[in-house]
Amino acid sequence: MKLLGIETSCDDTSVALVDETGATLFLETLGQETLHERYGGVVPEVASRAHAQILPSLVQKAFQETNTDISELLAIAVTRGPGLSGSLLVGVSFAKGLAFPHEIPIVPVHHVIAHLRGAFDQISDLHGKTLGLVVSGGHTHLYDVTRWPKLKLISRTVDDAAGETFDKGGKLMGLPFPGGPAIERMASVNTRSILPLTKGPIRTEDPLNFSFSGMKTAFSLKLRQTIHANAGVLSCEDQSLWADSLQTAILDHLFSRITKVIEAESPDTFLLGGGVAINRALRTRMEKLCHQKGINLLMAPPKLCGDNALSIAMIGLDSMKQGLFTPFPYRNFSVQAR
Ligand code: KG4
Ligand code: ZN
Repeated sequence: MKLLGIETSCDDTSVALVDETGATLFLETLGQETLHERYGGVVPEVASRAHAQILPSLVQKAFQETNTDISELLAIAVTRGPGLSGSLLVGVSFAKGLAFPHEIPIVPVHHVIAHLRGAFDQISDLHGKTLGLVVSGGHTHLYDVTRWPKLKLISRTVDDAAGETFDKGGKLMGLPFPGGPAIERMASVNTRSILPLTKGPIRTEDPLNFSFSGMKTAFSLKLRQTIHANAGVLSCEDQSLWADSLQTAILDHLFSRITKVIEAESPDTFLLGGGVAINRALRTRMEKLCHQKGINLLMAPPKLCGDNALSIAMIGLDSMKQGLFTPFPYRNFSVQAR
């Protein structure tokens, strides 16, 4: 038996097939960066139309390349949210349409749990008190996941997510969309001392919560002044200096909070997932911190940091083993955008 995973929560169309042992038979993720680049951000209507175009042929490819017949499917797992409602509806409706004639069970999957599921192979890898941080374009949320897959929120951003801050910074510097990978690339070639960027006002009283909007505004004002003073031009060398400075400010803020949470909660295991978790500077600092504190660190491998259907399929398999699924005819199951 095999399990099909479908992920369409934002701007990645992803399909995976696993067998009943969890071995990956197929994984392909098609990003839509080129479609959204000219708008400087994800346009929901464009994203859902692209999912509707891409998804059927990607599923067909998965079946063909693995010689799979639909009768072999144990279940279909699909992201139900949070995410863009139009994008989620394409994935969920497609999953229902595919499952319906064959009465195949569906497993609705929580997007945030999927980001953390990328960080470990087996549930038995989770030991003792376990915290999980999701850093993505939509989330900067830290959970107690000791009772996996139950999430208990410990702290969160009160305004923008870390990924949004990378993306906005990249846009202001004229870098390609999305800003995160572009900023990391530029930052890695900087040779000068970073700019002491003001973090701006932190919009939260809770010392464990994150806040990026003040930093974003302060960065934007200072960068505009510099560009203006340089006759509207930001040289390549300056771009790498500003990229390194922004990346460092984002990481400094993240780690000021992560360190406090670790001190307050004393976890045995720490999970890291989400699109920003691909960032090498973040991974290195995380490794150093967990090593110092004697914490077992499990980070999603780069190919499972961003939105992907393999993590969805793995949660589908876990859930089927526990008898947790939505049976035919899938009553009361729809998307949950928030
Ligand atoms: O998890 P994800 O693929 O989608 C959401 O659920 O949001 O995360 C996308 C985010 C974007 O903001 C993108 O700029 C950021 O992940 N990102 C990075 C890097 N690669 C992607 N941020 C920093 N460094 C990177 N190398
Ligand atoms: Zn995501």
